[in-house]
Amino acid sequence: MAFMINRDKTSLPPATLLNPLPVVMVSCAGKDPEDSARRPNIITVAWTGTVNSEPPMVSISLRRSRHSHGIIAASGEFVINLVGRSLIRSCDYCGVRSGRDEDKFAACRLTPAAAAGLRYAPAIHESPVNVSCRVRSITELGSHDLFLAEIVAVACRSSLIDAAGKICLEKARLAAYCHGEYFQLGEVLGFFGFSVASPAAYARRMKGKSAQKRSK
Ligand SMILES: Cc1cc2nc3c(=O)[nH]c(=O)nc-3n(C[C@H](O)[C@H](O)[C@H](O)COP(=O)(O)O)c2cc1C
Repeated sequence: MAFMINRDKTSLPPATLLNPLPVVMVSCAGKDPEDSARRPNIITVAWTGTVNSEPPMVSISLRRSRHSHGIIAASGEFVINLVGRSLIRSCDYCGVRSGRDEDKFAACRLTPAAAAGLRYAPAIHESPVNVSCRVRSITELGSHDLFLAEIVAVACRSSLIDAAGKICLEKARLAAYCHGEYFQLGEVLGFFGFSVASPAAYARRMKGKSAQKRSK
C-alpha cells in the first residue's frame, strides 16, 4: 500500500523526543543514613514511567554517575514524589545539584518523612503523592541504567481525596516537563472513554463543557 508522502515534516536524527513527560523527585537513602555519603537524597527524574499494572510497577532511568544511583542500587528502594507547582523550584534545584556535595533536603527546606512499606528511603513530606518503590532489577541500557521497581505503597495528601474516595489529582497542580521546560497541567480535554460516552455521562464528568466540543 502506498502511504502519503510527509512533505510538512522535517526529518531529525533519532532522539528522546517523547513528550510531555512527568517530572518527579526521587528520594532515597543509604542503609546507614548517618554516613554523610548515604544521607537522604533527592534526584529529579524525567526518564520515568508506569510499566505494569499487576503488580503495579514503574521504571526510572539513572546515569551511573548520579550520586543517587549508588544509593538506590545498594538500598534497593526509592520513593517517587509527585511534583506540583509549589515544589517546582526545588524540583529543578535537585536536578542541578548533587547530593555528593550537599544535603538537598536541607537546602530546599524539605522534610524527610517515613515512607510506607520501605526501610531506608524517606518520602518528601511536602509532595502531594509519595509512591514507595522496591527495586526488582537494574538493566544497563547505555547512557542510563533502567531500574524496574514494584510499587509497594502509596500515600496521597488527604485533601486531594473527596468524600466519595476519588483521588482528585487535578487539585495538586501537577507539573509536566516538555522539551526542557516545566509546565503546569491545565485544561481538561476529556476523560478515559469520553469519545464514546453517552451525552449524560459526558455532561456529568465534563461539568459545563458542551458535548458538541467532543472530538469525532
Ligand atoms: C528536569 C530534569 C530531569 C532529569 N531527569 C534525569 C533522569 O531521568 N535521569 C538521570 O539520571 N538524571 C536526570 N536529571 C539530572 C539529575 O537530576 C542531576 O544530575 C542531579 O544533580 C543528580 O543528583 P545526585 O547526584 O544527587 O543523584 C534530570 C535533571 C532535570 C533538571
